[in-house]
Amino acid sequence: MARTMARTIVGIDVGTSKICTIVGQAGDGRRLNILGVGTVPSRGIDKGVVVNIDDAASAIETSIEKAERASGFRINHAFVGIAGRHISSLNSRGVAAVQNPDGISRQDVARAIEAAQAVALPTQREIIHIIPRAYVIDGNEGIRDPIGMSGLRLEVETHIITGEAMAIQNLIRSVERVGVQIDDLVLQPLAAAEAVLSDEDKEQGVMLIDIGGATTDLAIFAHGGVWHTGVIPVGGQHFTNDIVYVLHT
Ligand SMILES: Nc1ncnc2c1ncn2[C@@H]1O[C@H](COP(=O)(O)OP(=O)(O)OP(=O)(O)O)[C@@H](O)[C@H]1O
Ligand SMILES: [Mg+2]
Repeated sequence: MARTMARTIVGIDVGTSKICTIVGQAGDGRRLNILGVGTVPSRGIDKGVVVNIDDAASAIETSIEKAERASGFRINHAFVGIAGRHISSLNSRGVAAVQNPDGISRQDVARAIEAAQAVALPTQREIIHIIPRAYVIDGNEGIRDPIGMSGLRLEVETHIITGEAMAIQNLIRSVERVGVQIDDLVLQPLAAAEAVLSDEDKEQGVMLIDIGGATTDLAIFAHGGVWHTGVIPVGGQHFTNDIVYVLHT
């Protein structure tokens, strides 16, 4: 474990069937060189959600140890995937008056995004991601990067992903218990999309479906941005159980 964590990115996928830790190192451009993977059967997880912190933490720890051995890196922080039926998403618009009409600034964009985020959220839910999809300047739609453009009224279309506070906290606790700091939580279908979709796919319009053990994750992209995300509580185990039932095995 002599090497340092410089330029090293770690991801942990806490799934219903398996827990997977992957260590990668940033290469040229957007390339990521995979240094090591640690996969173990899942424990303490039901339909993508932690139901027993002790069991989940112990399985996460074993997966991390395996990835450490495979990569030769000491893992002390990681990005963690989140899914489960508690996830929901909505699209929301926010508006801000531009402070200096000669050029829209980062602060104008931040205020528009903050306005979009002011949706009525039940107290037991937390926001996981707010993703700006496109901007509208003085009624002109489909603007990708508004910074520096002139205008008076800036609107942003965002995709907001929320989850149950309890489910989020239990996942965070299970990872932190093994001494690993969380860089960020990433919605599982968005992480999968990052890995398998090209910019062109997202531009043309595409739906990503990840059929897991107990949940199916999906993400829909159009015009380069994310339009819908969701987690359906049906997965491969349901097919297996149905076959077992029909064959009476
Ligand atoms: N070759 C295969 N053909 C069909 N099904 C398969 C195959 N390999 C694995 N499966 C099924 O895929 C499921 C496991 O998928 P995956 O590892 O993506 O789940 P997971 O990420 O642990 O679960 P989840 O995302 O639901 O929390 C199991 O139900 C398994 O039976
Ligand atoms: Mg999965």
